[in-house]
Amino acid sequence: MPSKSKPAVPKHADKPERFFKSFKYGPFDRQKEFHHSGAKYRLFGGAAGPGKTKALLYEAIRQAHLHPGVDTLLMRRTYPELEASLLTYFRRDVPRELYEKYNEAKHVVTWLNGSTTRFAYCDSENDVYRYQGAEYLFIGVDELTHFTLKQWQFLSSRNRCSIRKARPCMAGATNPGNIGHAWVKALWVDRVPAPGMDRPDQYDADDYAFIRATIADNPLFKDDTQYHKTLGQLPEALRRAFLDGEWDVYAGQYFDIFAPARHTVRPEQVQLDAWTPRWISIDWGFEHPSAVYWHATRSDGVVVTYREFVQNHLSPRMLAAAIAERSVDRMGRAERVRDVYLSPDAFAQRTADASIAEQLGDGLAAAGLPRPAPADNDRVGGWMLMYQALESDHWLIAENCTRLIENLPTLTRDPANVEDTLKCDGDDPADAARYGLKSALEPGRAPADVVAAERVTAVDPTSRAIWLKKFSAEESRRLVPVIPRRWRPSGW
Ligand SMILES: Nc1ncnc2c1ncn2[C@@H]1O[C@H](COP(=O)(O)OP(=O)(O)OP(=O)(O)O)[C@@H](O)[C@H]1O
Ligand SMILES: [Mg+2]
Repeated sequence: MPSKSKPAVPKHADKPERFFKSFKYGPFDRQKEFHHSGAKYRLFGGAAGPGKTKALLYEAIRQAHLHPGVDTLLMRRTYPELEASLLTYFRRDVPRELYEKYNEAKHVVTWLNGSTTRFAYCDSENDVYRYQGAEYLFIGVDELTHFTLKQWQFLSSRNRCSIRKARPCMAGATNPGNIGHAWVKALWVDRVPAPGMDRPDQYDADDYAFIRATIADNPLFKDDTQYHKTLGQLPEALRRAFLDGEWDVYAGQYFDIFAPARHTVRPEQVQLDAWTPRWISIDWGFEHPSAVYWHATRSDGVVVTYREFVQNHLSPRMLAAAIAERSVDRMGRAERVRDVYLSPDAFAQRTADASIAEQLGDGLAAAGLPRPAPADNDRVGGWMLMYQALESDHWLIAENCTRLIENLPTLTRDPANVEDTLKCDGDDPADAARYGLKSALEPGRAPADVVAAERVTAVDPTSRAIWLKKFSAEESRRLVPVIPRRWRPSGW
């Protein structure tokens, strides 16, 4: 019996439409644009349903056929999502005779030319490190806004190939919205470095291509009035995102009322009297930046966050020096700083004998500033307070607090607890501002003795006793909440 001849390896991978004919995939116009883009990082972004996932799958297949024996990777955030999208399309649409084998356990397809495409997911942020050591000519990430900038940056370090003529590249496909909305929008839509990028100076907009799609780009759905109707009934933000691929809105945004024109003020217009008491809030970080804010309450009850300092890799003493150096008014006079609130974890973390808070406190005290107190870390209450302050025009942010102004609109609600925001990289400015507002303005503080015990962390018992006494005296003189309660909604 004549042996069945092995099918030929599909050719012309460098000519997308020709190549895809073997796979019986006829890309729509917008998909063609995506396949033809020569950018190192391309994004197929926009509305629901224009064929983004399908295009991503076929792009990985095409890239795997550009050179024999190369590896490609397709990712989705969770396994059920991977199964319901990329894997389903692969199983359903890719003719069996066009690949050598598919390893079900590892989710790896081996093509006829020996190249592979691996289908992967990373549930937790750190799962991405499973791909350490591997290298991929092409990495495609479906629903890219479900990923963090850190994950993308790590994956991009795996995007390389030892074949001389090969051009490693990556692509994302996504709707607007979700935790990655801000960084994805920055890199591809606004074409600027993303907040939280380590080396913003290395961002090159020419590496990024954005292929924007709307629902009209998929002929299958173009005239589907029922589908249009369903999308049309979604809440405003979701509708604009899913139907029109609109990036200026996004679902789940926490501070949806934040409007720079309304909530920010030029630094020279801040106008605080010299005697106005001020306070400082700090979110301690070393690898992540420390974020520091200076606040004051104007005589009309409006809180102004008027100064920002965000930097990583500073020791507690260096940070204290940087804070002291900046705590001066325009005339160079030391400001009256009443309180310093520091992220509670800094009271637990120790380097050598002393906690971060103690070391920072020593530096601040030497400069005549108060020692830090643990900030109120009630997240839900803090975000709510900030929201109410913005809504009632009782919080203004000076335009020089650029990191905070960038950060606030990027916070999304946590699906597991919609009253909280989802923790993500780069949210240190918002955390620090929250500490500042919540600790100074809300009466719901920890009992004074608990605060004192945490604040008075000196190891030597005598100095501990002295500090404890001093702190209790200070506590009894504490000012009433700085913001008049009248602007708070009833029930607060
Ligand atoms: N070129 C094409 N030819 C035929 N069918 C296609 C093509 N592109 C996409 N489709 C089909 O259109 C539907 C939507 O495609 P796909 O899931 O890729 O869209 P999407 O943009 O990823 O959608 P979502 O926003 O929901 O993730 C799927 O059923 C897919 O098989
Ligand atoms: Mg999709």
